[in-house]
Amino acid sequence: MPKCLVCKAQYEPFISFGKMPIANAFLTREQFDKEYFFELKAGFCSNCSMVQLVEQPSREMMFHENYAFFSSTSKFMALHFKEFSEAVIRSHLKSKNPFVIEIGSNDGIMLENFLKSGIRHLGIEPSGNVANIAVSKGISTITEFFDESLAKKIVKKYGQADAILAANVTCHIPYIHSVAAGVKALLKTGGVFIFEDPYLGDIIEKTSYDQIYDEHVFYFSVASVSYLFEQYGMEVVDVEPQDVHGGSMRYTIANKGAKEISMAVFKQREKEKKLGLHLAGTFDAFRKNVENSRNQLIQLLRNIKKQKKRVVGYAATSKSATVTNFCGITPDLVEFISDTTPIKQGKFSPGAHIQVLPYKEFTDNYPEYALLFAWNHREEIMAKEQNFIKSDGRWIVYVPSVHLFPLPKVGEV
Ligand code: SAH
Ligand code: TYD
Ligand code: ZN
Repeated sequence: MPKCLVCKAQYEPFISFGKMPIANAFLTREQFDKEYFFELKAGFCSNCSMVQLVEQPSREMMFHENYAFFSSTSKFMALHFKEFSEAVIRSHLKSKNPFVIEIGSNDGIMLENFLKSGIRHLGIEPSGNVANIAVSKGISTITEFFDESLAKKIVKKYGQADAILAANVTCHIPYIHSVAAGVKALLKTGGVFIFEDPYLGDIIEKTSYDQIYDEHVFYFSVASVSYLFEQYGMEVVDVEPQDVHGGSMRYTIANKGAKEISMAVFKQREKEKKLGLHLAGTFDAFRKNVENSRNQLIQLLRNIKKQKKRVVGYAATSKSATVTNFCGITPDLVEFISDTTPIKQGKFSPGAHIQVLPYKEFTDNYPEYALLFAWNHREEIMAKEQNFIKSDGRWIVYVPSVHLFPLPKVGEV
């Protein structure tokens, strides 16, 4: 039995998706034979409530100078991080000449707001290509993996931080104890660590199983995050649910007793109990929902194929690697995936090998159906794809349930 990465207790995995590739490893035809696969399995530790991957590829295989996720591809996310930065400046940067650090700063989508406000900042971003974009914007960035030893080096060179920020990265790091110890060393006594990640409660409620892929090693809840930071003399002092990435949670962590604990923390912990996030049975029910979702989606795609209608995937997200490979969605069911990221275009999706083509290929020749792999950006996408709907196009959406949008005419599929 595997051991929990947080508390070392043994636990049973509750789901296996089978062999999976690296979700952001888009590849050329010549690379098909040497593609890397690992078994994607997740488990729940009943001792500390952490949900986690059993096995994760090495960090160097996922984060490198050809990393395919560029944060600034979504305008809504840019706005989200602008608001995030403004909230941090308002509430936590009142000292003279404050210092902000961001872990996983990618192309600088968050830190550019601090740069514009003239605030001393430092980004930590191991993927060289995206880090270089941030540097070219004038953002101070170190191209390294964050851990306790790097934190100590930063303290020596730059001093401690008033705020450490992290979005969609804390859940990526299996050596989470080193991260927590590093944060503790790097923060001023009265400082805050504010991070957000996809929230376990949303994943369970929406059956958004596509959040489970190689990079996401942890699926946090307030309960599991509290357990972890308590071991470092720290506590969760605030939580704020976020709409982004299909439902995320922003956690504010501070040294014990340094800040008042908001009522939102107690309320969210109550909600988690009602949702059963502390019970193994919840995850067995989730697995059944996942299997139903897969059966319905594949059935729908097969029906559409029988009718000889076209389906194009919309956005080659990391999440789509889990959906395509787990459901068996191959190029005979989905013609290509349209995506706006140049590095992905012309390549093939990991595992399923569906070709990724520029966005123009979608708009130039609308298919009857578009499979919305970026369901988390639904609002942004619906706003700009009115013409697809006007030309009688239908969206295939699978979160929170498999459905068509707009609703099909009677007898359509
Ligand atoms: N914060 C951005 C990027 C999220 S993607 C956003 O929310 O859009 C995750 C990023 O974390 C990648 O750019 C990856 O290279 C980086 N990363 C992975 N492991 C890391 C580590 N140990 N320390 C710092 N960054 C890391
Ligand atoms: P996201 O859901 O943020 O990705 P992930 O699952 O990897 O976290 O989606 C980012 C991808 O979606 C990126 O490849 C760009 C693509 N995309 C489009 O092609 N069009 C769009 O309108 C949006 C918002 C994203
Ligand atoms: Zn545990």
